[in-house]
Amino acid sequence: MKKEKRIEELKELIKKYSDYYYNQNESLISDVEFDKLLKELEELEGKNPQFKMFDSPTVNVGASVKNTKFTKVTHKEKMLSLSNSYNIGEIEDFINRVDKLLENNKKPTYVLEVKLDGLSISITYKNGKLVQGVTRGDGIIGEDVTENIMEISSIPKTLKEKIDIEVRGEIVLPISEFIKINEKKLAQGEEIFANPRNAASGTLRQLDSKIVKERGLDCYFYFVVNGEQYGIKTHREAFDFLEKLGLKTTKIAEVLSSVKEIDERIEYWKDAREKLDYETDGMVLKVNEIEYWDILGNTTKSPRWAIAYKFPAKQVSTKLLDITWQVGRTGKITPVAELEEVEVSGSRVKRASLHNFDEIERKDIRIGDKVFIEKAAEIIPQVVKSIKELRDGSEKIISAPTNCPVCGSLLEKEEGLVDLKCSNHSCPAKVQGKFEYFVSRDGMNIVGLGQKIVERFIDLGYLNDITDIYKLYTHKEEMEKLEKMGKKSVENLLNSIEESKTRDYSKVLYSLGIPEVGKFMGNLLAKESKNIDNLMKMTKEELLNINGVGDKVADSIINFFKNEKNIEIINKLREYGLNFSLGNQSKVEKNVFEGKTFLVTGKLVKFTRNGIKEEIEKFGGKNLSAVSKNLDYLIVGENAGSKLAKATELGTVKIITEEEFFEIVNNK
Ligand code: IVH
Repeated sequence: MKKEKRIEELKELIKKYSDYYYNQNESLISDVEFDKLLKELEELEGKNPQFKMFDSPTVNVGASVKNTKFTKVTHKEKMLSLSNSYNIGEIEDFINRVDKLLENNKKPTYVLEVKLDGLSISITYKNGKLVQGVTRGDGIIGEDVTENIMEISSIPKTLKEKIDIEVRGEIVLPISEFIKINEKKLAQGEEIFANPRNAASGTLRQLDSKIVKERGLDCYFYFVVNGEQYGIKTHREAFDFLEKLGLKTTKIAEVLSSVKEIDERIEYWKDAREKLDYETDGMVLKVNEIEYWDILGNTTKSPRWAIAYKFPAKQVSTKLLDITWQVGRTGKITPVAELEEVEVSGSRVKRASLHNFDEIERKDIRIGDKVFIEKAAEIIPQVVKSIKELRDGSEKIISAPTNCPVCGSLLEKEEGLVDLKCSNHSCPAKVQGKFEYFVSRDGMNIVGLGQKIVERFIDLGYLNDITDIYKLYTHKEEMEKLEKMGKKSVENLLNSIEESKTRDYSKVLYSLGIPEVGKFMGNLLAKESKNIDNLMKMTKEELLNINGVGDKVADSIINFFKNEKNIEIINKLREYGLNFSLGNQSKVEKNVFEGKTFLVTGKLVKFTRNGIKEEIEKFGGKNLSAVSKNLDYLIVGENAGSKLAKATELGTVKIITEEEFFEIVNNK
């Protein structure tokens, strides 16, 4: 009984998700989650066939066409779907299955092509003239969208040959068009499309074909129905045949024969697909020899001669458990979404950014909601939207905080700006944030002053403002006695602080934490101003004359220098020997290591690998990737292994530590 109930539940869920996906252009869950539900249902039905009914989504592809405004058309040849795989092991299983089903002397080759993320279409030409275009629907019955596809310029109305033929492909919205449409929608205050697929599907279902014309849809073909009737012997030939008729293909159809090759090409396309102007959600692998297709046959839903390899989803859904309010170094309050852990683009994610409170309101995001998250530019996860259709009424509306979550001060919102801010100068979160920013890799790059240590040093009174970092040596003995510190780490820390005095003026500018002045702006301002005194004297007009500086940046710089406390900090840092002009850099950038070659091995203390490589290049050296007789210096860190052994054996390589490297730099 329990199993029967679960089967019903799964059927209902799957139908609901399919209906949204196919009929309402909306994804309520990710493909991986959808496949999981389908697999669970397949397994349950497999073990309990008495509960498997003809209406099960495991029997039918897609979603049945409901309340359509278009004429329903029964496909002459069923439009099949593809089974999905998510790793190379599953591809290997597929190939083994194919080999087993074919007799021993039949050795297939394979075609690897991109899986376009759009909507499939079947188009019939009679005597070379386009007569009908039908969407897939549930694979058996689709919608007649002939009038609309007539407006897609890449679908020819007349073929180059006067033949009767049915061809299939994918209608997509080019990414460049998608961006344009959304920009226009934003400007007109309309709701934007979530992704190009939704936009393409929404567009194709327009009753007004004029809108289709405006939207710039595109179509790529990948299938000739009953291809063998036209003398086509392989799938690769089908691509050429389509092109010969004037039908556009992606031109990506690689003939491969081994799992190793297939694996390599899939890996290649994982990155290379970013350069294409259409979205792809995976690759498709098909048996190349069409004569084998009949032998292999189909399941009710998909051919046994093809399989899709799905790339990790860029957008996945999960539950929003809570919101925490974070206070940044400028006092800006950022809502952070606490999520039920999920995998996005290959990494586990349980927190995502929501930028500001206005965004929560605009997107109507509530605690308890199912939300879609994605990695923007593949780095920081963002909450894209909430899935309102899945609410059950228990979700809680989020209200804006009135007080700083760290120091309790009343929050402020500047006129016309969206950010909530804590304006208490001594708010511990702000103070802490300023230290973190100052010592960060893009800033002064001081190693050994992590969040916990800074917190401890603030508590102990060693640190009040950033200038105190350069007085830390006065607490040397006390620091050595602290738990988990010890002599060695104090020495490393003090060396790193000392060494940070060689940072360029641009890095120092960045580290000051002037709002709106990040890495790029730090570089630009350093170059344009040459020294801090010039920068401090600049008027707003002069700042605006710098190409790249806008109103916001100019105002922020002027405000920063108006504050006495900031001037005091700059003067102190100057006394401690930090670079406040471009001129000082020539001293550091002398070609100490001109023509010398370097290799780094083992774990470094002060530097990251890339950090030290940059330093080497800055001083005229060259980085090598292996030990050879051409190598001059090997810089060794902790646990150096085979490279150290090889260099010692050669006897010609100078082996030095990180500290020795800087001694050489400073003494030359
Ligand atoms: S072949 C019988 N090739 O993916 C062959 N489909 O998940 C079935 N798709 O319904 C289709 N790119 O809409 C094929 N290169 C490609 C494809 C492709 C995208 C779509 C198509 C299909 C769906 C299955």
